[in-house]
Amino acid sequence: MKQRLLVVANRLPVSANRRGEDQWSLEISAGGLVSALLGVKDVDAKWIGWAGVNVPDEVGQRALTRALAEKRCIPVFLDEEIVHQYYNGYCNNILWPLFHYLGLPQEDRLATTRNFESQFNAYKRANQMFADVVYQHYKEGDVIWCHDYHLMFLPKCLKDHDINMKVGWFLHTPFPSSEIYRTLPSRSELLRSVLCADLVGFHTYDYARHFVSACTRILGLEGTPEGVEDQGRLTRVAAFPIGIDSERFKRALELPAVKRHITELTQRFDGRKVMLGVDRLDMIKGIPQKILAFEKFLEENHEWNDKVVLLQIAVPTRTDVPEYQKLTSQVHEIVGRINGRFGTLTAVPIHHLDRSLDFHALCALYAVTDVALVTSLRDGMNLVSYEYVACQGSKKGVLILSEFAGAAQSLGAGAILVNPWNITEVADSIKHALTMSSDEREKRHRHNYAHVTTHTAQDWAETFVCELNETVAEAQLRT
Ligand code: UDP
Ligand code: G6P
Repeated sequence: MKQRLLVVANRLPVSANRRGEDQWSLEISAGGLVSALLGVKDVDAKWIGWAGVNVPDEVGQRALTRALAEKRCIPVFLDEEIVHQYYNGYCNNILWPLFHYLGLPQEDRLATTRNFESQFNAYKRANQMFADVVYQHYKEGDVIWCHDYHLMFLPKCLKDHDINMKVGWFLHTPFPSSEIYRTLPSRSELLRSVLCADLVGFHTYDYARHFVSACTRILGLEGTPEGVEDQGRLTRVAAFPIGIDSERFKRALELPAVKRHITELTQRFDGRKVMLGVDRLDMIKGIPQKILAFEKFLEENHEWNDKVVLLQIAVPTRTDVPEYQKLTSQVHEIVGRINGRFGTLTAVPIHHLDRSLDFHALCALYAVTDVALVTSLRDGMNLVSYEYVACQGSKKGVLILSEFAGAAQSLGAGAILVNPWNITEVADSIKHALTMSSDEREKRHRHNYAHVTTHTAQDWAETFVCELNETVAEAQLRT
């Protein structure tokens, strides 16, 4: 019998839209966590999480629970106030910027400090609500895998309830240097809670090291090569770099619908090189920096002016958080200015889309574009760069990749690595990418393709779960 896995993440892989009193439609949620977990097959997994919608009434809750059950998903219902304080507030206005080394804007700093306590309390309440749903569905022997910065308090809730639960926690963002992390007022409580898990995982060795040193410096615990020790109890800490389901992308490229998209796009941009950006419209993605670097490239290379286009897909995200609203207007303003400056009656240099794309359209774009531009200021891994490589089997396009994305550690050999803050360097890299010889492109692509196709999401999940089982078994032997 397969071991049961309960995956607990704030965001379910599908988001719900209400179509009537008891009618719901479900669509795939965007973001790297969901994409990676969708690539995990052959395990008896159930998902517990928030469907991204407020459902105050029982009729709606029952109908949504039924609709989600077909997708092996179990909802956690969060009301508007909790979402405001826990998700918009503590998670996305405090933890997210801090973990990505982005300070809060000056005018918000004091307000954030003032609201901190009530938001942290809401965070703990929300984590307890996730835990309550886990208890209802847990069976002895299940593995519980908690994901991301939304649920740092969950390992403690679970272990307080039943010390024998097998609990893993994985962070999909960077874990910052302890010098940054220690500014967080709730620093110790969160660390202690995460340490209740049996296994704690990160995308890179650096993030794991930062976590261990935060535990030694802030909590005074002992860090060992295995993890963190507290009075004889070991929490295992390790790096598990995530991957994608590359076969899913390769298969998609063979579908007639995707081939049609590819033909259309090729005709549409005939005679021009196409550069691609695909990001949630988030501060960490460095979208303004990317666009400014593209402007600099156009400024310095007039001969390219109507021969290259930047397609930027900017998926709306966390739209109730003021910082994200400000970013949207800022990006629109820069795009408008540059298109005004370099556009002609028939063409503009930047196509900026504030929307998500369906999977097939996305695969087609990945396949036809000449260069992908990933300029994250910090990024846990960045799966877009993996997906681009997976779809470039024929074209062998160039990946320009920020050195501050976790993916730089795995795709660094094939990508052109850049510091996104240095727009001169990025502009030069754009030129290098657009004029690169086919030999060099081929060589770089081969490197990355080999990595992306052999380090899959499936392997990532299997390794984590296997390590969690082993860690628990070893701990039992010690007692
Ligand atoms: N993505 C999506 N819809 C879109 C564009 C992108 O679902 O319209 C997916 C994309 O395929 C990728 C994920 O969103 O799997 C983004 O993951 P990444 O790790 O690059 O960044 P994150 O959004 O998690 O910060
Ligand atoms: C990142 C986070 C995920 C999150 C995703 C989308 O990948 O690590 O936990 O699901 O962004 O953000 P959202 O707030 O819409 O869930």
